[in-house]
Amino acid sequence: MSTQPVVSLVDVRKIYGSTHTHVTALDGVTVDFGASEFTSIMGPSGSGKSTMLHILAGLDRATSGSVYVKGTEITGLGDLALTRLRRERIGFVFQSFNLIPTLDADANIDLPLSLAGRKPDKAWKAQIIATLGLEGRLHHLPSQLSGGQAQRVAIARALVMRPAVIVADEPTGNLDSATSADVLSLLRTAVDELEQSVIMVTHDRHAAAVGDRVLIVRDGAITHDLRAPSAKQIAQVA
Ligand SMILES: Nc1ncnc2c1ncn2[C@@H]1O[C@H](COP(=O)(O)OP(=O)(O)OP(=O)(O)O)[C@@H](O)[C@H]1O
Ligand SMILES: [Mg+2]
Repeated sequence: MSTQPVVSLVDVRKIYGSTHTHVTALDGVTVDFGASEFTSIMGPSGSGKSTMLHILAGLDRATSGSVYVKGTEITGLGDLALTRLRRERIGFVFQSFNLIPTLDADANIDLPLSLAGRKPDKAWKAQIIATLGLEGRLHHLPSQLSGGQAQRVAIARALVMRPAVIVADEPTGNLDSATSADVLSLLRTAVDELEQSVIMVTHDRHAAAVGDRVLIVRDGAITHDLRAPSAKQIAQVA
């Protein structure tokens, strides 16, 4: 990959707890994530996947090491600057959707922009909504949406900012297999047609295989770095 990585980790360590009860969640991880690339992260429960995602997205801080988002070192930023960078550069999609229950789909999609004091680019937003098939659902509250629709709203919310990177932690974890396939193909579309970068944690090797690259994490370290593997190839190492 010739372009600058969208996210880089350099010897990142994360230790939770005090001396007596400490857990090394990340044990010196160094990795570059490519721009306009879809990277999947797999590994056993407790291996450090969410920790890695949270640290690279500035939701949590490393104990040591450096994290760069689009060339900006975020490890040295104060809370305010970090919050701003997160709002402007990073789109989040979680297993539990995290939509605001009292806002309709349209207002949920606009929320990151509202928080940043910006107005949506109308053409871009319309393209996202059409791509995600949300036209008929914009004035529904989250409680009036199916799981798949709610997740599509969360993806639209992440995309509308044109973030440098979309991070997704088990985005299909609460969805049936047909809806999961839908959500994965939308994330794939975000990379192929909207030139976004996606970093996704998943427990499902078929979901992981949608990525251009699959990282396997074990005991806080990356043990395998696979280029466009099949689900079968992933099964041999994960
Ligand atoms: N806030 C915390 N305080 C203490 N320990 C934590 C904290 N968060 C995570 N850990 C520990 O760090 C390790 C890595 O956790 P992490 O959540 O990153 O795992 P994961 O790979 O995402 O697992 P899962 O697949 O179950 O979501 C685990 O041993 C976990 O218990
Ligand atoms: Mg996790």
